[in-house]
Amino acid sequence: MPIRQFLIAGSVAALTIAMPLAVQAQEVVKPSLTLKAAKAQFRRVSFASSLPAPSGTLVLPLAGEADLASRAASLNEAERAAIARALAAAEFDYKSGTLSLRGIGGWDRIQVVGTGTDMSAAAIQKLGVAAGRALMKDKGSLTVLANGLPAEAVAELATGMGIGEYRSDLYQAKAREAGPMAGTTIVTDATDPARAAYAGRGRPLIEAMAFARDLSNEPANVIYPESFVERTRAAFAGVAGVTIEALDVPAMEKLGMGSILGSGRGSARPPRMLIVRYTGRGAPSNGPVVLAGKGITFDSGGISLKNGSGMGDMKFDMSGAASVVGAALALAKSRAPVDVVAIAALSENMPDGNAARPADVLQAMNGKTIEIISTDAEGRLVLADAVAYADTKLNPAAIVDMATLTGAIMTALGDDYAGLFSRHDPLADQLLKAGDASGDAVWRMPLHPSYAEDTKSTIADIKNSGAGGAGAGAGAHFIGAFVKPETPWAHIDIAGMAWGGANDLKPAGSTGYGVRLLERFVRDFQPVPKVAGE
Ligand code: BES
Ligand code: MN
Ligand code: ZN
Repeated sequence: MPIRQFLIAGSVAALTIAMPLAVQAQEVVKPSLTLKAAKAQFRRVSFASSLPAPSGTLVLPLAGEADLASRAASLNEAERAAIARALAAAEFDYKSGTLSLRGIGGWDRIQVVGTGTDMSAAAIQKLGVAAGRALMKDKGSLTVLANGLPAEAVAELATGMGIGEYRSDLYQAKAREAGPMAGTTIVTDATDPARAAYAGRGRPLIEAMAFARDLSNEPANVIYPESFVERTRAAFAGVAGVTIEALDVPAMEKLGMGSILGSGRGSARPPRMLIVRYTGRGAPSNGPVVLAGKGITFDSGGISLKNGSGMGDMKFDMSGAASVVGAALALAKSRAPVDVVAIAALSENMPDGNAARPADVLQAMNGKTIEIISTDAEGRLVLADAVAYADTKLNPAAIVDMATLTGAIMTALGDDYAGLFSRHDPLADQLLKAGDASGDAVWRMPLHPSYAEDTKSTIADIKNSGAGGAGAGAGAHFIGAFVKPETPWAHIDIAGMAWGGANDLKPAGSTGYGVRLLERFVRDFQPVPKVAGE
């Protein structure tokens, strides 16, 4: 590799400027051309007003004993009596559990799902997720008795089932491709509105969730900044109202984005700033809602190297970026009347001879200088330029960033809530509401003035790791320093939420957390006064 040898022999500083990183990278990167994940697959969903002939699995949601007579009116009396006997014998509580019954009528099995009385969209969708996942192994068709439920609830149930059918075994091609491919029939007295709600919003959400989770689950030898951009372009191909721009290294140099560039200097894969804009028909014209995602395609820690145990999880460190792009994809595919920009701040945090060091000073796009204390606090470096770009170039109605930013937020909130930080109460309130409505839970955290003290540098405007104990708050404060005080801005730390082990609601790996939260938030967004918050 002549360029590399020349670099070592010659003046590194002069040559780095003369030779853009992208050119160096072409010399050293050998993309994995042969590795290709199996495509995610889902059951085809149709809506019918009457019960089809018995075959495969019947799903029977029940809130109580009385529901059986009405919802299962289309079953014959002997079938209903058998179900009633089984429910009584099992002391079924109708609250959440499921009961699997075999040998009744012509069905392979009847899966009773306790719905409880919470009929909110999030609760119904969650039931669907659990059912979709529980019935993954059923080879035959599914029939869901959903009559008596309002159209919106029926669509949420169907949407949940599609989300629940997601599987993360990307490289067990046979497993994924032999997935649950027979169709689902939803029996409902509201076929037309349910079908419209599902096709208009549910199906796009299922696809966007799968897109985001696939991106997150992919290993870092497959997904790096440039391949993230390619996957995004492919996902949006043919979707109306969308423009995609990817800033490469020279473009970012021109804009002065020294912070994201500094974060990526140790990697053979050059950083990218990906900007996806979707403007729907009938969208408000007072500036876009900007969603900025941390897109560290692998976080080794850089020169401040992480220890080995669990380091592989850092392939998920681009989950914020996947979720913001996923939310934009859901909105665009459903033709929502919104103006949204998803920015994926993409970089790989690796140690090598070109990598940034502790005590190095970087300069972000808005002119602020940053002293690096730890190269492992890299998420805030890429987001500094992402939010500064949004703030100065896009006239945003609001900026929300989403990031697997700190281990500290996991200590505080576990995997029950993402941490929400904002100087603007009306914006925070909208995000909390979207959290409740979508089921992606968020908990508000403080931005104490002491975090400004904690991040004071003696050589630069700010340092990238705080001196105090509030690790998540210091990270939030740092990002906020690159947004004008009057711009409505919020930061969501999803480090505890983005991935985990398998459970009743998900396979191992990415959760897709944030896609549903941000989709709901942007859809319902109300302008927030642009006054300095605190
Ligand atoms: N990506 C990590 C945060 C993380 C850790 C997310 C574990 C999920 C699980 C982030 O870049 C990081 O390394 N943060 C440091 C910040 C510190 C150096 C100021 C942390 O949390 O320790
Ligand atoms: Mn890190
Ligand atoms: Zn990180």
